[in-house]
Amino acid sequence: MTLTASPSHTLTGNITVPGDKSISHRALILGTLAVGTTHVSGLLEGEDVLATAEAMRALGATVTRTGEGSWEITGVGVGGLSEPRTALDFGNSGTGARLIMGLVAGHPITATFVGDASLSKRPMGRVITPLTEMGASFHAREGGRMPLTVTGAAVALPITYPLPVASAQVKSAVLLAGLNAPGQTTVIEPHPTRDHTERMLRAFGAEVSVEAGPQEVTVIRVTGQSELTPSDVVVPADPSSAAFPIVAALITPGSDITVTGVMMNPHRIGLYTTLIEMGGNIEILNERDASGEPVADLRVRSSALKGIEVPLDRAPSMIDEYPVLAVAAAHAEGTTVMRGAAELRVKESDRVAATVAGLRTNGIEVEEFDDGMAITGTNGQIPGGGHVLTQMDHRIAMSFLTMGFGAAAPVTIDEGEMIATSFPDYVSLMRGLGANLLSEANS
Ligand code: S3P
Repeated sequence: MTLTASPSHTLTGNITVPGDKSISHRALILGTLAVGTTHVSGLLEGEDVLATAEAMRALGATVTRTGEGSWEITGVGVGGLSEPRTALDFGNSGTGARLIMGLVAGHPITATFVGDASLSKRPMGRVITPLTEMGASFHAREGGRMPLTVTGAAVALPITYPLPVASAQVKSAVLLAGLNAPGQTTVIEPHPTRDHTERMLRAFGAEVSVEAGPQEVTVIRVTGQSELTPSDVVVPADPSSAAFPIVAALITPGSDITVTGVMMNPHRIGLYTTLIEMGGNIEILNERDASGEPVADLRVRSSALKGIEVPLDRAPSMIDEYPVLAVAAAHAEGTTVMRGAAELRVKESDRVAATVAGLRTNGIEVEEFDDGMAITGTNGQIPGGGHVLTQMDHRIAMSFLTMGFGAAAPVTIDEGEMIATSFPDYVSLMRGLGANLLSEANS
């Protein structure tokens, strides 16, 4: 399905975007490990999370949808997973695949992990290495790629693992395997990454400590083989999804929108800090707490933006948002430099290459680096008119549709269906704000 975003006059109104993807995966996983029934509301019903729900069923949990976004998971307890009868299919989801590799690695069962063409290209060595140290064994395709088969440890070894890449997925995989290891499993993080696993583990009664170590590292410890108790999870709105209507409002003249209940976890809001530094008119209203995470309503009005140099150490807190930041940078006056984000090369697509190609086809000047790019802004005059290759990447799709609303000529993307992995009602929500978005079946 082709989607075309055309210049929109104004975007106005109040919306709530779907539940956070990271928290939704973790609610299903920890619900599976708890003894008893976990109730989740606001679960993201996107394809990535639905694949995790299916995997939890295959591993023995009873997972039931009781209403829109409302789910119940009756868990099997730590150590209680059953061996799945068929391969676990994670579709496009690196988070689901990597976290559940950790889960399986800590249980004496064998499971095969498969996914789509994008996921099958992504590196799994980063979780295979520590999980092998913990006693699991892996048979993977060349270069540590999926499809792969894991046989979990008979008794997992608690390890101490310094993270070689700033990755919440790797941290979470090790902590999840550690839940069924006797003793303490430790992860040392040189650069802080999203901490949803640690927060939710605590809510489920696990013994988790987080301490500052020498040279600004963070030391996270989990004590294994203790029982997890169900906790009700209210999933807040995903700041990574909210980014698309927010940048659309900033670059579309005359816009004034409010996105309600957005999660404001400090490890997730690097984009908003950056947009405010660029001169974005973003008001943070009604700051409150929801289920252990800070949330707020964000009122956003169209703004004249200025290019900036994005601090290198901000990368983990906005890693999924660079493609849409590139769109804001194209609208801004002056140059925006984003570096220190080599991880973008191994996301659902090579997001440096895909973003650079999308910018160029829409008339934007950009210099590509190994770890990022420098974008020459147009001072509100984005030409547009390009046809962007989505490359099986939902965030590339939504980023360039965002560009189309604030450009002189329409922007088309080729794989509209990819958006359903993380933001199934994107098209209707954007149309509700007044966005000009046309879909056509590919012939
Ligand atoms: C995620 C962590 C990030 C992010 C992904 C979700 C998570 O990946 O890009 O969309 O839920 O833990 P890395 O941990 O590999 O950086």
